[in-house]
Amino acid sequence: MGQRVVIGELGEEPLQAIDQFASLVEMERPDPATLGPRDVVIEVASAAVGWVDLIMASGQYQHVPEPPYTPGLEYAGTVSWAGGDADLPVGTRVLVDPFLAGPRSSGAYRGYGGFASYAVAPREAVHAIPGALTFARACNLLGNYETAYHCLIARGRLAAGETVLIHGASGSVGLAAVHVAKLVGATVIATGRSAAKLAVVKAQGADHVIETSQPWRDEVKRLTDGRGVEVVYDGVGGPISTESLRCVRFGARYLIVGWAATPFVAKGKGERGAPHANQLPTNLIMMKGLDVLGCPTVISTVNDPSIRAARLAQVLAWASAGQLVPYVSRTYPLADFKAALHAKWHGEHVGGVVLAP
Ligand SMILES: NC(=O)c1ccc[n+]([C@@H]2O[C@H](COP(=O)([O-])OP(=O)(O)OC[C@H]3O[C@@H](n4cnc5c(N)ncnc54)[C@H](OP(=O)(O)O)[C@@H]3O)[C@@H](O)[C@H]2O)c1
Repeated sequence: MGQRVVIGELGEEPLQAIDQFASLVEMERPDPATLGPRDVVIEVASAAVGWVDLIMASGQYQHVPEPPYTPGLEYAGTVSWAGGDADLPVGTRVLVDPFLAGPRSSGAYRGYGGFASYAVAPREAVHAIPGALTFARACNLLGNYETAYHCLIARGRLAAGETVLIHGASGSVGLAAVHVAKLVGATVIATGRSAAKLAVVKAQGADHVIETSQPWRDEVKRLTDGRGVEVVYDGVGGPISTESLRCVRFGARYLIVGWAATPFVAKGKGERGAPHANQLPTNLIMMKGLDVLGCPTVISTVNDPSIRAARLAQVLAWASAGQLVPYVSRTYPLADFKAALHAKWHGEHVGGVVLAP
């Protein structure tokens, strides 16, 4: 007998959903007699605790799940059973593609999230874990690094020798962006609110780190010999965004990745509308000739599925070669899922946070 987390109702906001509507219930291993020839049953070893798992529980993410559902967009584990056409030996170490299975997907597999002892995914969503990644690192690979790739490379055209300012660099997507920017050959200036977390970000490859609790714009200027950066990666939003527009070069690319500092942009409970959206000053965008680029990884891929193959192949290749190693700072047992989600919401850890069913 296993266990899984169930969100019984969407909340007004994430922590209310977790505290009031989430519970741990028993589950059986899915019965192969009910599954198809290309289905795979995975015994989950690790599931990433994602920002999206939180805002999805309050219906504030663009993809609204239908409760009751099991969270856990991204997970890794071992094959426990595979259908006759799946051609996957039991025991294979695998990670599951969050675009094609789990609560972020739209089809038959959206009921199987990773906050569970077992999940079912279609064969096309199941990849052998690349390189020597642990389960905890493997479940932090695709969402984080495909986002970093989409933002920095596909949208931002970041090139060797350029300087990129990365806000929210201690987060799971932010730290992936630091790794990808370094692989590209860029200079990274990373920001955050905590010296202790920034020390880890620096050890993970950032060239420079700056605390935003004090005035920071002049430091960016100083580090770029007064010129400003070529690219801004903004996963934070709020006042930091406007300040960033004042330390960029003419013609810089401004990447809108997320708004961790203003999470209540959208209404709760899955209602449509965004009464608290961030705003950017058009005078600075105009006078500095900026390219402001929205970077929604999933929505862009739904609009043009052809953009994914190169991105996915590159991320898997980098991981196979050991050039990308997701950083995981804390693993919680499944029973402590509420503590893990609270910690993620409050930014208590650097990089990946993981549940171990
Ligand atoms: N574009 C896309 O396709 C895409 C994909 C995935 C995620 N996202 C978005 O990217 C953002 C970051 O995601 P993530 O997974 O990296 O989240 P995360 O792990 O929670 O990290 C967010 C980081 O933002 C920083 N931050 C600065 N001011 C903050 C504030 N007032 N409140 C909370 N955090 C603040 C924190 O760093 P310090 O504590 O060091 O300041 C924190 O580490 C989210 O908005 C998410 O929705 C976008």
